[in-house]
Amino acid sequence: MDKLILDDGRVAIVSFVKKDDSTAEYLRFINRLIDEKTNILADKKFNLKQEEEWKKMQIENQKKRIGYTLVARISGKIAGTSGANLGKFKEKGNASLGIAIAKEFRGIGLGEALLRLNIRKARKIYNPKNMVLTVFSTNKIAHNLYSKVGFREFARFPKWIKHRGKYCDMIYMKL
Ligand SMILES: CC(C)(COP(=O)(O)OP(=O)(O)OC[C@H]1O[C@@H](n2cnc3c(N)ncnc32)[C@H](O)[C@@H]1OP(=O)(O)O)[C@@H](O)C(=O)NCCC(=O)NCCS
Repeated sequence: MDKLILDDGRVAIVSFVKKDDSTAEYLRFINRLIDEKTNILADKKFNLKQEEEWKKMQIENQKKRIGYTLVARISGKIAGTSGANLGKFKEKGNASLGIAIAKEFRGIGLGEALLRLNIRKARKIYNPKNMVLTVFSTNKIAHNLYSKVGFREFARFPKWIKHRGKYCDMIYMKL
C-alpha cells in the first residue's frame, strides 16, 4: 500500500486490484468515464459480468507478473486507476501504461502522483526496455501531464481515433 499526499492536503491510498474489491464500484468508475465521453478508448459501457472478468484478469496478470492495475482511493472511494501491461512474445520487454482519474478528483495532483508511482513500480517489477503510453491528440491535459513526467512523442497514427464524432491522431509517447 502506498500513500500519496495531494495538493489540497487530502491523502490517496494506492493498492493493486484485489479479489475482495467491489466489482460494482469498479464498474461505476469506468462507466462514468464512458458516460462523460472522455478521452479513453472504451466507447460502450461495461456490465457487471465483463467487469468481473476484467478484475479476474488483473489478478491473474499480477500473479503471472505481466501486468497490474493500481487503484487510488480517497476517503475509501475510487479516485483513479493507473495500469502497466507488458507486451506479448518478443514485445514483452516493453510496458504500456495508462491512467484515468474520476472527474471530481482531477486537478489536485493525483494524476501526476499516481503516474509517477506507477512508473516507479513498473521499473522495479519489470525493468522494461521501454515504457510507452498513448494519448489522443485532442487530450491536451493528458499530453501536458505525460510531457511533464518525461514522456516524448515517438510515433503518431494520423486521424486514427473517432472521438466525439471527429477523427483525431493517436500519439505514442515513450519515457
Ligand atoms: C489526464 C488526467 C489523468 C490528469 O490527471 P489530474 O489528476 O487531473 O492531473 P494533475 O492534477 O496531477 O496535474 C498534472 C499535470 O497535468 C496537466 N494538467 C492537469 N490539469 C490540466 C488542465 N486543466 N489544463 C492543462 N493541463 C492540465 C498539467 O501539466 C499538470 O501539471 P501542473 O499542475 O504542474 O500544470 C485526468 O485529467 C484524467 O483522467 N482525464 C480523463 C481520462 C484521460 O484523459 N485519461 C488519459 C487517457 S490517455
